[in-house]
Amino acid sequence: MINIEENKDLKPLNTFGVKANARYFCTVTTRNELNELMRHPVYQNNRCLILGSGSNILFTTHYNGLVIQNALKGISIKQETDTSVDIEVMAGENWHNLVLYCVQQNWGGIENLSLIPGTVGAAPIQNIGAYGVEVKEVIQSVTGVDLQTGFTTTWLNHECNFGYRDSIFKNELKEKIFISSVTLTLSKKTHRINTSYGAINEILKQQHISEPTIQQISDAVSEIRKSKLPDPTLIGNAGSFFKNPTIAISHYQQLQKLFPGIPGYYSANQEVKVPAAWLIEQCGWKGKRIGDAGVHTQQALVLVNYANASGTEIFSLALDIISSVKEKFNIELLHEVNIR
Ligand code: EPU
Repeated sequence: MINIEENKDLKPLNTFGVKANARYFCTVTTRNELNELMRHPVYQNNRCLILGSGSNILFTTHYNGLVIQNALKGISIKQETDTSVDIEVMAGENWHNLVLYCVQQNWGGIENLSLIPGTVGAAPIQNIGAYGVEVKEVIQSVTGVDLQTGFTTTWLNHECNFGYRDSIFKNELKEKIFISSVTLTLSKKTHRINTSYGAINEILKQQHISEPTIQQISDAVSEIRKSKLPDPTLIGNAGSFFKNPTIAISHYQQLQKLFPGIPGYYSANQEVKVPAAWLIEQCGWKGKRIGDAGVHTQQALVLVNYANASGTEIFSLALDIISSVKEKFNIELLHEVNIR
C-alpha cells in the first residue's frame, strides 16, 4: 500500500541541505507500488518530480506537486561468461555501494567512479564521469516506465544519446521517464585498467603500485575525492555545480595570449574543453563565502551550503560566478546541477 505524505520536508532529502517542501511525497519501492501510484488521483492531478538521493539538485522554491522517491532495490545477474558479466541493477540502489560490491566480486569497469554520490538510476541521466571513465562505457541498457502511459521501455546504449554529462533522459525524455533499472556489462578478467588521470598515477606511484587491481584503483579514487571534494554529509553540496565548457580552438588560442597558463584539453571535434574550476578560480571566487553560500576552498567547481543558505542564495552566487566568467573570458558556464 503506498503512502502519500503532504508538505514533506525535503531538507534531509537533498545533499545541498536547503530548505524546501514538497506538496506531496511518496517513496516507491516496487514496480507494483509505482503502478498503484499512477492510478492515484494525487498522481493524476499533479506534476511530478522523480528524486533519487537528491545529490544533483538545487531546490530554489517549494515543489508544488508530487515528489516520487525512487527506491527500487536489487541486483541480479542477467548473463555471465568466463570473461564478463551483465548485471541488472534497480534504480534506487546507492551508486557507491554498487561500486564497492562490484569491486568485491572482482567485476571491473566502474572502479574509477567510486564515491560518486547518488543512485544507480540517476547515473545514466547525466552520464556520470570521473577520473577518465564515464558510465556510458559500461551501460548496456536503461529500462524505464513512461510516466504518462505506464509502458516499460528499454533503451540500448546507442539509443541513450550519451554525451559529456548528458543523455536523452536530460533532453527529449526529461521528466517523462521513471528509470527502473540499469544493465551494466562488467569485466571478470583482463580488466581495462584506466589510470590516465594524473592524480591516480601519482597516488599509485607513492604506494609503489605499478600494476594496480581494481580495488587499488577504487581506493586511489576514493582518496582523491576525499581530499578534494566536500563530504555532503558534513557540508551541503552537489558535486560539480557547473559543466566544463567547450570552446572553439580560435577562442582558446586568443585566451592563451591573454592568460598563458590557461589549461585546455583538445577534443576530436575541433574544440577545447577548459576546466571551469580554473576559470572560476581566476575570477577570485575560490573559497569565497557569501552568508552561508560559498565556493569550496579545495575545488572551485563545487558550491557549498555551510549551514542555512537557501537555494536562491546558492543560485544567486552561481549567477554571479557565471557573469564574471563571461565578462573575463567570454565563456558561458552552464550549470550541471538540476535547478528547481
Ligand atoms: N582546477 C583549478 N582550480 C580548482 C580545481 C581545479 O584551477 O579549484 C583546474 C586544474 O587545472 C585541474 C583542472 O581544473 O587540473 C581539473 O580539475 P579536476 O581534475 O579536479 O576535475 P574537474 O574538471 O574540476 C571533473 C568532473 C568531476 C570529476 C573530476 C575528476 C565535471 C563537471 N566535473 O572536475 O565530477 O570528479 O573531473 O574526473 O566534469 C561531479 O560531476 O560532480 C564531479 C565532481
